Amino acid sequence: MGRVQDKVAIVTGAASGVGKEDAILLAREGARVVLTDLNEEAGRAVAAEIGEQALFVRQDISSEEDWLRVMQLTQERFGGLDILVNNAAILAYGTIEDTTLELWQKIQKINSDGYFLGCKHGLLAMKQRGAGSIINMSSMAGIGGVSSFCAYSASKGAVAAMTRSIAAHCRGKGYKIRCNSIHPDGIKTPMVAGLHTTLKPGQMPAVRERDPKQIMARFAEPQDIANLVLFLASDESRFIQGAELRIDNGYLMWAD
Ligand SMILES: NC(=O)c1ccc[n+]([C@@H]2O[C@H](COP(=O)([O-])OP(=O)(O)OC[C@H]3O[C@@H](n4cnc5c(N)ncnc54)[C@H](O)[C@@H]3O)[C@@H](O)[C@H]2O)c1
Repeated sequence: MGRVQDKVAIVTGAASGVGKEDAILLAREGARVVLTDLNEEAGRAVAAEIGEQALFVRQDISSEEDWLRVMQLTQERFGGLDILVNNAAILAYGTIEDTTLELWQKIQKINSDGYFLGCKHGLLAMKQRGAGSIINMSSMAGIGGVSSFCAYSASKGAVAAMTRSIAAHCRGKGYKIRCNSIHPDGIKTPMVAGLHTTLKPGQMPAVRERDPKQIMARFAEPQDIANLVLFLASDESRFIQGAELRIDNGYLMWAD
């Protein structure tokens, strides 16, 4: 028996990076997985790699219409929902001084509104099932202060606060639905690969001045995050509710 045997999962942003690894690992542990992404070609390729127990659906997570369609197709193909991994997001450089309102709103629309819609419709589907696990990908940027990613940090902070609100709601209502957030530091994925080379002079100087090899050595592999997602998706974590789980190799620790 797999650790999430016969459970049904939706993973957003499953065409790349962490989401791809999540989908593959959940499927390997027995789940039937709906993979969603804007990137249709790559998403279909991952679903094909997984095989029969996977379904790819093209989705923009900031569209409520798309969420309703994903929920309907999940119901039709697999009969319900047990696990939702809100993972898709975008990252763009910008301090408070040079972030335009347009960029701010674009990032909130996907990284914050998109997660709200996923949680809302995911929870409604899980209620019919009587139980479930919602896993929200936040970031260390949602806990600490990162000058270079003002709008992204705010969106990830919103995800963490919303996660706690949902957990409180489920606890209060007696739902067996858990909602937790994950807070990684750097992960070796297309989102950050090459970021140090694409930034313009003056942007993120601390990273530009350091040896890129050293920076990447500090980064986690997508598999490291997927292992935590699998644990939170499984019943092994049944007593973990409203937690903010840092997965950062002790980023906030220091030796005195
Ligand atoms: N990579 C890191 O260092 C890092 C660190 C902390 C947190 N995170 C978080 O981990 C999660 C996964 O990131 P990743 O590094 O794997 O990124 P990635 O860029 O490799 O993958 C993100 C995927 O999301 C998809 N996507 C983007 N906008 C979308 C939308 N509107 N609708 C549907 N799909 C959309 C992209 O097409 C892509 O396939 C994100 O929430 C990210 O914020 C990443």
